[in-house]
Amino acid sequence: MSDGPLALRGPAFAFRHDPFAADPDDALIHWPDALVVMRGGIVTALGDHAAERHRHPADMPVHHHPEALIGPGFVDTHVHYPQMEMTGAFGETLLDWLARYTYPTEARFADPGHAARIAALFLRSMLRAGTTTACVYCTVHEHSADALFAEAGRLGLRLVAGKVLMDRNAPPELRDGTDHGIPATQRLIDRWHGRGRLLYAITPRFAPACSDAALEAAGRLWRENPGTFVQTHLCETEAEIAWVKELFPAAPSYLGVYARAGLAGPRAVMGHAVHVTEEDLSALCGTGCGVAHCPSSNLFLGSGLFRLHDVKSAGVRVGLGSDVGAGTGLPALRTLGDAYKVARLRGARLHPAQAFWLATQGGAQALRLEGRIGNLAPGMEADLVVLDPGATPELALRTGGRPDLADTLFALTALGDERAVRATYVAGRLAHDRDASPAR
Ligand code: GUN
Ligand code: ZN
Repeated sequence: MSDGPLALRGPAFAFRHDPFAADPDDALIHWPDALVVMRGGIVTALGDHAAERHRHPADMPVHHHPEALIGPGFVDTHVHYPQMEMTGAFGETLLDWLARYTYPTEARFADPGHAARIAALFLRSMLRAGTTTACVYCTVHEHSADALFAEAGRLGLRLVAGKVLMDRNAPPELRDGTDHGIPATQRLIDRWHGRGRLLYAITPRFAPACSDAALEAAGRLWRENPGTFVQTHLCETEAEIAWVKELFPAAPSYLGVYARAGLAGPRAVMGHAVHVTEEDLSALCGTGCGVAHCPSSNLFLGSGLFRLHDVKSAGVRVGLGSDVGAGTGLPALRTLGDAYKVARLRGARLHPAQAFWLATQGGAQALRLEGRIGNLAPGMEADLVVLDPGATPELALRTGGRPDLADTLFALTALGDERAVRATYVAGRLAHDRDASPAR
């Protein structure tokens, strides 16, 4: 494999500032004809093609995408890879859905061959969706995390993932006590955390599936392994919150259950946070937790409507999560379409710059990786997506009159999906080429 530079040429966009914090109309930088030069996995130069081209070797390979839109790769801050095969399971609320569909599906990962097959499928789908980083739940089985990390390492992905920890309120074959789950997690951290671009997330599934002892052991492990992540679920549905109150009567709140176990802080990513109080919001901000907004999942399970603008106004770091398999697909473009509708039902507007921020730099912020991924700038890791605003007849009709950048981005979220992902680049290398891939 050559270590030489590779460049992309075509219309491109990046972020100037957080469009939730300052004028969203002014948040995007737009190059009608950009040159993005990548070398050693990093963006080394970015600017107008006319001004930039002569600075680089004449024989540098350039992938030209004149009708496309080059941007940062998507960041999915909450997804369950083992649930791919049960996406779209019919008609239940969270707790029934877990018992009826999720746990039996995850039990099949006792077979390492099955785990390896689904891990490979998942990562392929992720790249087809233009997602270059994800924060991923595996199953309780240690080898389910090995399978995902091994394949992600081969692809050069920056990926955060962890084996699920749960020791109660789940079928016996999916429970592992602290005597097994904690040493297994430590072994996985030793094997994978910091290897290449891979990062480990300690993963207590959610408070109802974890005893106090399990949560405390997970918190200890986090303290003992600096730089690792935590991922879990928080305040997704009202019935779940009532159950947490019953199970932890002495805890001040759902978030308090995690906080007192030492599981709230920078690099902890809380999934959902739909039904949060003002105290929760200030505690999320004060502790430095990230939040994964999962609109597709929240609509699908009928969990509730996330208060995106309130949560952002409180200063919390928020990213987008597909939450497959409760969410109905990996493509960020589709999930953003749902985020827009959730905002509408909350009486708010989600500006397209805000939407794309959530799916890129916002996610990177929630993961504390904002200095490395989620924007297009020299020095950032070279994870990019090439979007095709004319991918389908409907998109072509909608965007063909050359609307402005923000409107093109909006159309992509309203009408787009993985068909609108022309190519995905990981660490400066082409990892998905829609037009070279088989139709499915
Ligand atoms: N809460 C605990 N586990 C899960 C899960 O797998 N999916 C969702 N959406 N919520 C959860
Ligand atoms: Zn989830």
